Order: sequence, then structure tokens, then C-alpha cells
Amino acid sequence: MASTTEFSPGLAGVVAGATKISHVFGEEGRLIYRGYDIRDLAAQGSFEEVCALLWDGRLPSRAELEELGQALRSEYAVPEEVLSVLRRLPESLPPMDVLRTGVSLLSSVDPEYGDDSAGALRRRAIRLVAKTPTLVAADARRRAGRPFVPPDPGLAFADNFLYMLHGERQPSSFVAALDKALVLHADHSFNASTFAARVTVSTLSDMYSAVTAAIGALKGPLHGGANEAVVHMLDDLHTVDDVDAWLHERLARKELVFGFGHRVYRVDDPRALILRESAAVMAREVGAFEKFEIIERLRELMLKEKNLHPNVDLYSGIVYQRLGIPTEFFTPLFAVSRMAGWTAHVIEQLGDNKIFRPLASYEGPDHLAYIPLDER
Ligand code: COA
Repeated sequence: MASTTEFSPGLAGVVAGATKISHVFGEEGRLIYRGYDIRDLAAQGSFEEVCALLWDGRLPSRAELEELGQALRSEYAVPEEVLSVLRRLPESLPPMDVLRTGVSLLSSVDPEYGDDSAGALRRRAIRLVAKTPTLVAADARRRAGRPFVPPDPGLAFADNFLYMLHGERQPSSFVAALDKALVLHADHSFNASTFAARVTVSTLSDMYSAVTAAIGALKGPLHGGANEAVVHMLDDLHTVDDVDAWLHERLARKELVFGFGHRVYRVDDPRALILRESAAVMAREVGAFEKFEIIERLRELMLKEKNLHPNVDLYSGIVYQRLGIPTEFFTPLFAVSRMAGWTAHVIEQLGDNKIFRPLASYEGPDHLAYIPLDER
């Protein structure tokens, strides 16, 4: 067994496992899924195609893609017994908590529960990816005081999600923009939530427990929650002229500037560059170009002052706002997409499993003499 006593906070620089699913080339600013560049997949592929790629390791044929699309569409519906529990949750509970609860509850309606054969795992992954948007849309509609819109099994994934959210079909340019964002967020190597999923299932627990743990990890503002934090942060900025002073004060207070920096990328996050193009188009469409220019000025200054590049979360907010997605649902939407990656990683982990059990650098006292309770 390889052994190292060197302590790396946050496991930075530590190789914690092997994967064939995706890889981040941090110095080059390149992300690949199963060998394919994310730029090509975002330009030409679809989210359903990416699911097939992540789960099966290769691009599907037309017939295979049709079959997978059909399998996903047949699993969009979430049983009433799960939806009724979610409806009883207080509205003060953040949407990510509702989603975490809903996804956890899906295990109770899994007809193959306990079967961890390869076929059952893949079907479970399909179920999870298919049902997550229904849970998210149901919660968004409830909070908006509007009736639940059941999924339409005749619609493709992104189209159906926007339909459930808004209660009517959205323009094809919106569907395409969402599909692209879903492709970009589907996987990202051993990020915190994916690692949480792999650690959980490495105990031979189950896929539902793994993705529930992953949702909990994604919620935090240092990970998936950053996209919402960016939007709240930008609310303080009204014109480009505000940016310089605002940023200098924020940095002087040693506060984070959300949407910048990354553990692995040392150059531009390629997902940010792709979303930047979509954001620019959408900002122009809604006459919100000032917001876009504010972000661009921030980008310029952060590079100069801190040598930090934008990450994927800097631009996704503008795109999601244009699609009519409420801010508190940005992170749940991230989960909708990343469910594809989490489930692929769970399947891969179980295929060649070793329980995660690292060492810790113990920094507490030792050899203390026990003092009986009434002598303390
Ligand atoms: N704003 C201000 N300072 C930042 C920063 C940011 N967004 N990101 C990193 N830094 C600072 C760190 O505090 C650190 O400063 P120090 O050396 O004085 O302690 C320095 O830059 C180097 O940080 P680094 O080691 O590169 O970051 P990390 O790997 O520990 O953390 C993130 C990576 C993503 C958690 C971090 O960049 C961050 O919190 N970003 C904001 C949240 C965000 O957008 N998350 C989404 C990620 S996709």
C-alpha cells in the first residue's frame, strides 16, 4: 500500500482515485468527458447524448440515443407519494434542502431497490436524472403559488424542464441555451460533490445515499451555491463605474469574489468562456448589457489584482435569469445536470471499489490523565 504522511489541506494536489469519466486540464483550461472536448459537446451534442457518453463510455448511435431518450422520458413522472411529502415541507426550507429530501425519498419508489447489478444501476441512473427536474420544477411552482405541471413525456429533457417550470413551452433558443448549460455542468472530475458521492458509495451503501450526500455538498457557496452568490453579489453593482471601488473594498475586507478562482484551473474555465458567449447574447436581448459590462470589468480587475480567472458560475446567472429561472433555483438546476455525472461516478466506483479511508494529521493532545467527573 502506498503511504504518505504529507498533509495536503483540502486534499489539494492529491490523487484520490482513478476515473475514465472526465478530466480537467487545469493549466490548459480544457475539460473532457470520456475523451471528448467539452467545447465540441456543447456546440454539437445534447444533454441526453452526454448522459449516454458518461454512463456508457462512448457516444451513442442514433438508435441508442433514441432508446435512451425514450427511457428518460418514460421516467420523468414522480409518484404522488413523494410529491406529497415535499408539499408538506415548510417554504422556509431552501430549495436545495427540498431537493435533497426529494431525491432521498426516490429510493422508496424504486421498483428495483437493492438490485445493484449493472443493468439495475444504469436504470437507476436514468430514473434519477429523469426525475430530478420534476422535483425541482414542482418546488419552484409551489413557491410561486402556481399549480404543479406534470412532465410531458413527448418532450426532450431541457424542453420538458422549462415546460414544467413555466407551464408552457419556451422558445427553441431558450431550450438550446438550457441544453448547453446542462451539457457544461454534467461532470467535472473529482469535485467536492462527486467525491462525496464516491466516498458514500465506497462503503457499499447505495446510489440514492450517494447522490443525496452529493446534493448536500453541492449546496455550499464554495461549490454549486456560488452561482446564486454571484447574482446576489452583483445586485450591489448598478453601473460599471461602481466596480473599481466596490472591488477594492471587498478585497481589502478579504471577502471572496464569487465566480472567480478554481482549485484546478489556472487559466480561464472553458465552461465560463462558452457561457460568456450565451450570456452576452442574452444580455443584449433583454437590454441588460450594463450587467454584462459590470461582469467584464470585474473580470479585468480580478485578473490584474489577484491573477484569478472567472469560473463557470460567473456567467451562468445571466443565462438562467433570461430563462426565467428564479435565483434560488440556480443550484438545484446545477444538480439536475450534475446528477448525470454523480450517477456515472457511482457506477464507476462500484465497478472497482475500495472504501475511502484516508489518514488524518492528529493535532490534539495525547497521554492526558483521566480526571474523574467529581474532581473536575
Ligand atoms: N475571491 C477572492 N480571493 C480568492 C478567490 C475569490 N473568488 N478565490 C481564491 N482567492 C484567494 C484565496 O483566498 C487565496 O488567498 P490567500 O493565499 O491569501 O489565502 C488565494 O486566492 C489562492 O486561492 P486558491 O488556493 O487558488 O483557492 P482554493 O483552491 O482554496 O479555492 C475556490 C478554490 C473555488 C473555493 C475559491 O477560488 C473560491 O472560494 N471562489 C469563490 C467561490 C466560487 O466561485 N466557487 C465556484 C467554483 S466553480
